[in-house]
Amino acid sequence: MTLLKPKILRFESLPSTNTELARLASEGAEEGLSIVADEQTAGRGRLRRAWSSPKRAGLYFSILFRPTIPTCHWALITFMAALAVGDALKEASGLQTDIKWPNDLLSGERKICGILAEATETPNGRAVVAGIGINLTQDAFPGELTNVATSVSEATGQQPDRETILAALLRALSRWYPLLNEPSGREEIVAAWSRRSSYATGRLVQVSNGDEVWQGTTCGVERDGALRLKTASGELKLVRAGDVSSVRSFN
Ligand code: BTN
Repeated sequence: MTLLKPKILRFESLPSTNTELARLASEGAEEGLSIVADEQTAGRGRLRRAWSSPKRAGLYFSILFRPTIPTCHWALITFMAALAVGDALKEASGLQTDIKWPNDLLSGERKICGILAEATETPNGRAVVAGIGINLTQDAFPGELTNVATSVSEATGQQPDRETILAALLRALSRWYPLLNEPSGREEIVAAWSRRSSYATGRLVQVSNGDEVWQGTTCGVERDGALRLKTASGELKLVRAGDVSSVRSFN
């Protein structure tokens, strides 16, 4: 596949746009099929967390990919989705965003968008449902997250237009997705991701993955999207899963 031809289905309310799109994928839906819901009653985030999704407070969006590239490159789907969201927020709202590994979009230090890519078996082969949740207003998340989350309205001081952001997002996904097919395109995705992420190099972070917790300084990302982490003992760890948080240095 080279050209993405998004077709949008709209819903007032769904448990989760990812779940509904996975169901349609199992019935043979084509690549590019996208779902937008005004609200989600069981929105899902990474690491089995809930994603708060009140009516019209966020953009709750999922898109279906049927990648033909080897699965070892599939982690880059979330990288290219993060780049597309960054482009869309810049184009539609003038917002400059940062990326926290692997795929949280931040405004300042606070999260403005999360991405959940899920592989799903279908009769026409393994597919990926990429779900994107953008906080449009402060109502998108519970008050206790105010220190760690923000919204397009807070970051810009203006009421965001969901449709303008959605249109820009679809254009950006259509630009970035075809790059996954070529080695040079994949390198471009990793390079662009690294330029846009203050977490890519020289950042003191803590990584939690189940029972394991590592601390170290980031030193770039591998070609497959793994985060390189140098621990205080000089050991190099490759992070492929988990939660990354910034650690303040006392020097
Ligand atoms: C994260 O944990 O940061 C990922 C959040 C992903 C949320 C989006 S909203 C649209 C789609 N449907 C879901 O249930 N989740 C994703």
